[in-house]
Amino acid sequence: MHEEDHFRKRSWRAGPLTLTAPDPESIDSVLRWRNDPAVTEWLIQTIVDPAALKREWLDSLDNPLHHVLIARHSEDVVATGTLWIYDGQGQIHGDRNAYRNCEAGIDYLVDPRHQSRGFGGQVARVMLQLAFDELGLRRVSAGCFADNRASRRILEKLGMRLEEYSIQASWHADRGWLDGCSYAILAEEWSSHRSD
Ligand SMILES: CC(C)(COP(=O)(O)OP(=O)(O)OC[C@H]1O[C@@H](n2cnc3c(N)ncnc32)[C@H](O)[C@@H]1OP(=O)(O)O)[C@@H](O)C(=O)NCCC(=O)NCCS
Repeated sequence: MHEEDHFRKRSWRAGPLTLTAPDPESIDSVLRWRNDPAVTEWLIQTIVDPAALKREWLDSLDNPLHHVLIARHSEDVVATGTLWIYDGQGQIHGDRNAYRNCEAGIDYLVDPRHQSRGFGGQVARVMLQLAFDELGLRRVSAGCFADNRASRRILEKLGMRLEEYSIQASWHADRGWLDGCSYAILAEEWSSHRSD
């Protein structure tokens, strides 16, 4: 079975959540809340075009560098997680395979009706499991506005390190220039943290 086919058929459990690869119906469910202001307030990619997002997420099923998971609680689609793989930084001479496709970024979104129930943290944990335990990546990063306290708490509880606090680095459409945070964790740090 191809790696992509395997991914399509997999499911992950996290607390009361079941996470699976997207299908057209589950993406339609996400689109009912994806552009809600309670979701977009602290995002950089605020409003998405529904057709474009659907195409992008369905295309991800055939893209080993882009993973999307849809989280359900009972039958409700309550959250999503995304992981995108990229090259690490490396010197251009020598063995480029040493740093090719070895890092990932993650993000996560929770339906406003289901926020503050721990689901964001559970989805983020699955994204790290996917990155390290299954895909064998060496480093995962996540960024957020400094004022996105819930997101920062999620990343810190997972053992991610605040590596950069950038003063007035990101433009917020309603609030102007705001501070940003970058967090990261290495595979070996995850190994010692995941059972905490
Ligand atoms: C940010 C988001 C993912 C958090 O998910 P959630 O399911 O609501 O959060 P959780 O219930 O997992 O709680 C996360 C933690 O943050 C804490 N928290 C929540 N709001 C907080 C606030 N305003 N200030 C400080 N801590 C806060 C919670 O108490 C919890 O910590 P605890 O486990 O120690 O009690 C969710 O609100 C969301 O989707 N927001 C819109 C999209 C977004 O911003 N995504 C992140 C992109 S970087």
